[in-house]
Amino acid sequence: MSGTVPVRLREFTLDDYDAVYALWQNAGAGIGIGRSDTREEIAKKLRRDPDLFLVATDGGKIVGTVIGGYDGRRGLVYHLAVEHAYRGRGFGKLLMREIERRLRAKGCLKCYLLVAEGGKAVIEFYRQIGWEVMPVTLMGKTLEGAS
Ligand SMILES: CC(C)(COP(=O)(O)OP(=O)(O)OC[C@H]1O[C@@H](n2cnc3c(N)ncnc32)[C@H](O)[C@@H]1OP(=O)(O)O)[C@@H](O)C(=O)NCCC(=O)NCCS
Repeated sequence: MSGTVPVRLREFTLDDYDAVYALWQNAGAGIGIGRSDTREEIAKKLRRDPDLFLVATDGGKIVGTVIGGYDGRRGLVYHLAVEHAYRGRGFGKLLMREIERRLRAKGCLKCYLLVAEGGKAVIEFYRQIGWEVMPVTLMGKTLEGAS
C-alpha cells in the first residue's frame, strides 16, 4: 500500500472494468459474480445511474468497490468489496458511508443489501455501521428474454 497517496473515492468508468472484475474475483465467497457483471450489463447499469458505482483508489490502483441502485422507493447496495491487503483500515466503511449519502440525496428512505449464506463476519461488519438483519425471505426470479 502506498504510504503517501491517500485512498480516495471516485465514480467508476468502463475503463476500470477489468481491474474491478479482477478485484471481485479475488474478493472471496461474499461476492457472487453473475450475468449482471458482464461488461455489457455494467454499461447498462452505468447508463441508469453512473453516480452510484464507486471505486476506492490508492494512486492508480483500484482497491475497493460498491454499487448502489435506487428505484424511486428503495435502495439496493451490491458488490461492496475491499482488496485483501486494504481490509480493516476503514475503506469498507468509507465506501458504505458515501453510497448511503448518495442514496439519501436522491430521496431514498431505506435500502437493502444481500449477504451470502454463511457470511457471519460480513453481517458483523454491517451491524457495526448501523444495518440490521431483516425478518424476510428473499425471493427471486430470472427473467428470460430480457435485453
Ligand atoms: C466486508 C468488507 C468490504 C469490509 O471492508 P473493510 O475495509 O475491511 O472494513 P472496514 O475496515 O471499513 O471496517 C469497518 C468496521 O467493521 C469492522 N469489521 C470489518 N470487518 C469485520 C469482520 N469481518 N468482523 C467483524 N468486524 C469487522 C471493523 O473492525 C471496523 O470497525 P471500527 O471502525 O470500529 O474499527 C471486506 O471485508 C470485504 O471486501 N469482504 C469480502 C467481500 C464481501 O464479502 N463483501 C460483502 C458483500 S455483501
